[in-house]
Amino acid sequence: MIKSDISLARKFIDDSTYLHSRKKADQALEQLRHGTGPGSEWLGWRDILAEPNDAKLEQISELGEQIRSKADVFIVCGIGGSYLGAKAVIDALSDHFDQDGPEILYAGHHMGGKYLEQMLSHLKKPKKDGSPKNIYLNVISKSGSTLETALSFRMLRELIEDLYGEEAYEHIICTTGKEGGLLNEMIEAKGYRKFIVPDDVGGRFSVLTPVGLVPIAVAGIDIKTLFYGAVTAYNQFEENAEDLVEYAALRNAIHESGKTIDVFATFEPELASIGGWIQQLLGESEGKEGKGIFPTVASYSTDLHSLGQFIQQGQRSLMETFIIIEKSFSELSVNELEENDDKLNYLSGKSFHEINAKAREGTIEAHSEGAVPIVRIYLEALNAENIGQLIYFFELLTGIFVYSLNVNPFNQPGVEDYKKAMYRLLGKH
Ligand code: PA5
Repeated sequence: MIKSDISLARKFIDDSTYLHSRKKADQALEQLRHGTGPGSEWLGWRDILAEPNDAKLEQISELGEQIRSKADVFIVCGIGGSYLGAKAVIDALSDHFDQDGPEILYAGHHMGGKYLEQMLSHLKKPKKDGSPKNIYLNVISKSGSTLETALSFRMLRELIEDLYGEEAYEHIICTTGKEGGLLNEMIEAKGYRKFIVPDDVGGRFSVLTPVGLVPIAVAGIDIKTLFYGAVTAYNQFEENAEDLVEYAALRNAIHESGKTIDVFATFEPELASIGGWIQQLLGESEGKEGKGIFPTVASYSTDLHSLGQFIQQGQRSLMETFIIIEKSFSELSVNELEENDDKLNYLSGKSFHEINAKAREGTIEAHSEGAVPIVRIYLEALNAENIGQLIYFFELLTGIFVYSLNVNPFNQPGVEDYKKAMYRLLGKH
């Protein structure tokens, strides 16, 4: 099970501040459990784990297998909560270089013309044997109207229609809300395959619905194990959520103490996108009404050579959260070199896991001495079960922490402001 250790942050908070925050976190958990907090109509991310839909999981697994056996390229077209969860899980659990199965590409998460232009030309390029690539497209938009996603979908759909003619509908999968939205009109008109984003699950809480599960299954990851990892975490935290309540209380107390930034750090490059998912989950949930701790992501030891200086000695406005994988998941160790011209033989025989772990321990020691409050989150091993647990761990933490700020975690009213200005400048009627 996921473990959290707040001791290196707790020492910066006095008892009365902590106890005050602890009371708020206890109440927040009760609000979540009884559906009495603001936005309680958005608690479906808990319900899907309380009553798993095995038939749906089976259906998605089978579709994933089918597409894997046919596709050369699978495009995930979505933005924010409509793609970050899938990317996080796929990046965590796939080979860095040799993808077994279709190439997974991402579109619809920005409006960079060059990226899309190059993607279109990459898709049109035949395979090494001269045959055309077999392309599948999963457009994911709960509202069915997000501009970034809709624009990319328009361009990619045209290519797929050109390539496959009347069969194009077989290459397009739409994941959207049950009713309404332009995507539903297109599904009706063109007969695209449809998956529903449950009404009561918001984008950033939707990775364990078809939003995340379809792309994750196509990437060859066992979605049942992933999902049931989250179910295990759900059941455990329904019985005893002490660790999470303590963590949420601590984060609340840190917030009260004036810290404004939480750096989510990992020493495992596989977890960089998990950091991106946590950043969105927390950021879009807590950053309202002038409140919140700005979540950001660091990939160590790479970023120790860019952000490390600031974290060690810059303005003391930071806390840091390390996500740690305990068990080694690589066999690689350092070789012995007879000439030792690089003077690295003192590391010969040591595994990279061991060396990386020492770098992590040294960093935690140094940053802690530099007055950075540190939280450590431990996963036993890197696998689908543990990533499933981690997903629910952070979803529940987000719910408890944001309720303890007296904020609705499940809306994002501020996101509309840029859209209004952009649509006005684009002349949308
Ligand atoms: O978490 C959220 O709700 C948002 O980040 C949405 O996922 C994002 O804005 C995309 O919205 P949609 O799925 O409607 O295109």
